[in-house]
Amino acid sequence: MDSKDVRTAAAFGPASLSNLGPGFDTLGICIEGWGDTVTATRKEGHGITVDSNILLPQEPAKNTASWAAHQVLSAVDAGCGVHLYVEKGIPLGSGIGGSAASAAAAAWATNLMLGQPLDKPDLVNAVLEGEAIASDGVRHGDNVLPALFGGMVLTSPSNPADYRLIPLSRSLHLALLLPDLRVFTADARAILPSHVSLRAATENAGDLAFQIHDFITGNYERVGCYMMRDRLVEPVRSAKLPFYAEARARAVAAGAWGCALTGSGPAMFALAPDECTARAVAVAMVAAAVAAGIAASGFVTASDMEGVRTV
Ligand code: HSE
Repeated sequence: MDSKDVRTAAAFGPASLSNLGPGFDTLGICIEGWGDTVTATRKEGHGITVDSNILLPQEPAKNTASWAAHQVLSAVDAGCGVHLYVEKGIPLGSGIGGSAASAAAAAWATNLMLGQPLDKPDLVNAVLEGEAIASDGVRHGDNVLPALFGGMVLTSPSNPADYRLIPLSRSLHLALLLPDLRVFTADARAILPSHVSLRAATENAGDLAFQIHDFITGNYERVGCYMMRDRLVEPVRSAKLPFYAEARARAVAAGAWGCALTGSGPAMFALAPDECTARAVAVAMVAAAVAAGIAASGFVTASDMEGVRTV
């Protein structure tokens, strides 16, 4: 055992919003207010075991936290195993990056337990591998890289280890709707079309480019317009959510600049000019869900610029 190694370490992995309208598997942002905490404890031998405050799969290759920890142990040839305790603070299947938060927290906690041989950029592969467990093996970085680094991250769908940290000119005021429903990412990906029209694809690509430009320059009102017209993914997924159209309409009527699903849903988020408006928007979105017969909670949140952290 290296002198810097510790027996036990804990990390907090924050929640995140992904897709942000036209950025399927490409764009995400880390947010305040929710997260998963993972405690890593050194074990003799090479095994990984896991406990949690909820029921999670025990097999390392079926659990985002364990699989991310496994990648870290392998990357540094650690010569030990790890026991993980995963405290889920993010509701399962909510659409705010719960699997990503667990993967990022597990990778960072395991790294800390080993004396921190790796920096955050060295953990990109580990967290992408962990997150892929929740997506039938598809690596996508639009939740897990924001959870790792904080802030907004652009990631390549074809090679998610290729990423850019996108600077925001000022913080975001966000309203969040958490319906009392679960949508699992793998299921929500399985219903997506394998082919789309050239016109829809090019229009989406254009909107995403303009949206990122406007995030960087601070033209958030325009960001909101691009956010609301994804042509490829959101129309398919939203068709299964009875509150979606009304929640968007009420969010905009209450002053939001834009409103969209986050990730595979069912959560929705809205971008607002200020915190007071974000509160009104959250109330309006909850009312839409309740009117459609779905219990829901509303929150106000903001961008988290730190990402996974030691606790
Ligand atoms: N980009 C992913 C999806 C995020 O929409 O399937 C899943 O949380």
